[in-house]
Amino acid sequence: MDIYEAVESRRAVRGFSGRDVPREALQRVASAAAWAPSASNLQPWHTYVVTGVPLAEIKKRAGERLSAGDPWDEPEYEQYPPALKSPYRERRSAFGEQRYGALGIAREDWEARQRAAAANWDCFGAPAALFCYIDRDMGRPQWSDVGMYLQTVMLLLRAEGLHSCPQMAWSVYRKTVAEILAPPDELILFCGMSIGFEDVTVGYRRTGRAPLGETVTFVEG
Ligand SMILES: Cc1cc2nc3c(=O)[nH]c(=O)nc-3n(C[C@H](O)[C@H](O)[C@H](O)COP(=O)(O)O)c2cc1C
Repeated sequence: MDIYEAVESRRAVRGFSGRDVPREALQRVASAAAWAPSASNLQPWHTYVVTGVPLAEIKKRAGERLSAGDPWDEPEYEQYPPALKSPYRERRSAFGEQRYGALGIAREDWEARQRAAAANWDCFGAPAALFCYIDRDMGRPQWSDVGMYLQTVMLLLRAEGLHSCPQMAWSVYRKTVAEILAPPDELILFCGMSIGFEDVTVGYRRTGRAPLGETVTFVEG
């Protein structure tokens, strides 16, 4: 697959078929993604690729917490700045309207939004997932390294005919994930990622982007 096609066809897929993901594909992706760059080659990502019974157990326990109305685990990092300023605030609310609008959910229907968001903790039906951790000593440049690594993973998944959805949502049930994966205490769960073949019967609206001039400045001589 051409790299432009991989970039353009990657999107946050929120409906997966139950079709199993070949282990060899996950192995190939994990091996190739290790070539992602990082400052001084620290490679600060710690990735758990999870399928089968352990993933089913994570989903089951998260689902039980959700149904029980169990409070979220206290955050280990801030997902967004507390007061999101313009233009990010507007972009965030446009995203929410688009995401929930595509499901026919009105802006003020908080309960329906919550129900739709709950699919996060079932990995949107995906049979595979990864959970990406970073050492709590690491600083902003290393978090950015992890982002590059995750995008590398997602593009490689496209080359395998697979789709993905990165999910900070998993951080709110990080203790449940830890019960199964038992990561060392020094690691913070940055995000999960659902991985699988797309369920093409699930509708979606492609998330747009700001006009290029808002985010890129060409300085030419
Ligand atoms: C670090 C990160 C965390 C995200 N967390 C979630 C999440 O918890 N649940 C979800 O449905 N989408 C999540 N997304 C997907 C974004 O909403 C999505 O990437 C964005 O709206 C752009 O849409 P696109 O990826 O389909 O182009 C996350 C994306 C990133 C990069």
